[in-house]
Amino acid sequence: MSLKRQPVRVAVLGCGTVGSETIRLLRDSAKDLEARIGAPIELIGVAVKDKTAPLPIDGLDPAILTEDPVALAEQADVVVELMGGIEPARTAILAALEAGAGVVTANKALLAVHGPELYAAAQKNGVDLYFEAAVGGAIPILRPIRESLAGDTVRRILGIVNGTTNYVLDRMTLEGLDFEEVLADAQRLGYAEADPTADVDGFDAASKAAILASLAFHTRVSLDDVYREGIRDITADDVAAAAATGHVIKLLAIVERRGPGDQGTPDSGVIARVHPALVPLDHPLASVHGAFNAIYVESEAAGELMFYGRGAGGRPTASAVVGDLVTVARHGLEGTTGPGESTYLALPTLDVAKALTRFQIRLVVKDQPGVLAGVAQVFAAEGVSIETVRQTPGGPALGNGHANLTVVTHQATEGALQRVVAALAGLDVVERVAGAIRVEGE
Ligand code: NDP
Ligand code: HSE
Repeated sequence: MSLKRQPVRVAVLGCGTVGSETIRLLRDSAKDLEARIGAPIELIGVAVKDKTAPLPIDGLDPAILTEDPVALAEQADVVVELMGGIEPARTAILAALEAGAGVVTANKALLAVHGPELYAAAQKNGVDLYFEAAVGGAIPILRPIRESLAGDTVRRILGIVNGTTNYVLDRMTLEGLDFEEVLADAQRLGYAEADPTADVDGFDAASKAAILASLAFHTRVSLDDVYREGIRDITADDVAAAAATGHVIKLLAIVERRGPGDQGTPDSGVIARVHPALVPLDHPLASVHGAFNAIYVESEAAGELMFYGRGAGGRPTASAVVGDLVTVARHGLEGTTGPGESTYLALPTLDVAKALTRFQIRLVVKDQPGVLAGVAQVFAAEGVSIETVRQTPGGPALGNGHANLTVVTHQATEGALQRVVAALAGLDVVERVAGAIRVEGE
């Protein structure tokens, strides 16, 4: 005779895009989830901001709605936090962990700033903190890094981890449109928020970079450690110049681990950065279109791995959330927990100036003798080697006597390349620096 297990009492905090789809998935898959967990799930409460407002989900018992997420969090076996933001999400998660509940969250903004505090509370209380949906939405990436690659050494991760910016850059590339034009469209279609700052200025990707770096390199990396540039300044000209040299522009989150002596540097540590970059057309990340995400992992034994899929959207993200919920519920029934925070390497974060990269620099120069020599001298003075130089006539738009110069460098430090750009801008023969964009993935 098999005894029926007690239901797993689940609280969902936040019933927006992801929260409502999570509740739907729990309802639609109830029988399968019961079989997979070994006990039924009971939705004991849903925290909303306003109980009287219409919900984006039909058939929810109004009696389980509450406007007090913290009180609800203290009553459940598993708490699913989908409100977003720092407060009251942080307090509710801490209350849940202190009360002995496992927690599932998709809140990268919170984890990238308060991750260590939350991990510590989970460990102290012997419960799980899972957050697969926080990076790459539906894409299984954090569990592969935390568990499947636990026997390997990850050296570098390049990720397209923000769907909104990939959508905008992709349409600029495919249709030759300007940034503002596509952004307005993205807002109309609901990809970008009314205030698109978190996506467009790279904050969302920087939070994800911090989470990826912490897990991949067994160290603590927070949002403040991530160098960040967004895509607001990318122009249709930049996109066309990238295409002319066989590249596309992507907003990349790049996290890398440096050992002493690696790549000729004495420094040991982690560099985490988010910025637009030229990616060669034959790199797997170049074919990530629309709002899709992809994370390209380079590790010592496994080599290169790529994880691809829907990085945003209610239903895809709910898939990752419910996957975590099944694991946390199983652990609760078994009296075990999954891996906690792993920070044994405690690596320092290195300044982005030490990152090794390449630049494509576009200049408008005077078309006269000695210009190329003067420009080349600036690169030589910083020890930066030039890979290619391409000159095209300025044409009527630039006025007579001008030319476009596109220089692509070999690898050098970010610091040296930035000094080159500043020195070029000060040359008499340089009318203006029309663009300076990093080249990655070669
Ligand atoms: P939404 O804004 O759609 O949903 C959040 C919900 O939480 C809203 O209904 C909001 O109410 C509610 N809420 C806010 N504060 C409170 C509160 N104090 N008490 C009760 N309810 C509250 O966000 P998403 O569903 O898009 O995102 C949720 C989380 O998932 C975020 O952390 C986000 O970063 C993450 N995520 C989202 C993805 C996506 O594609 N949307 C993908 C991956 C992760 P109100 O609307 O009234 O403010
Ligand atoms: N705003 C995010 C994006 C949602 O555009 O990718 C997923 O985190």
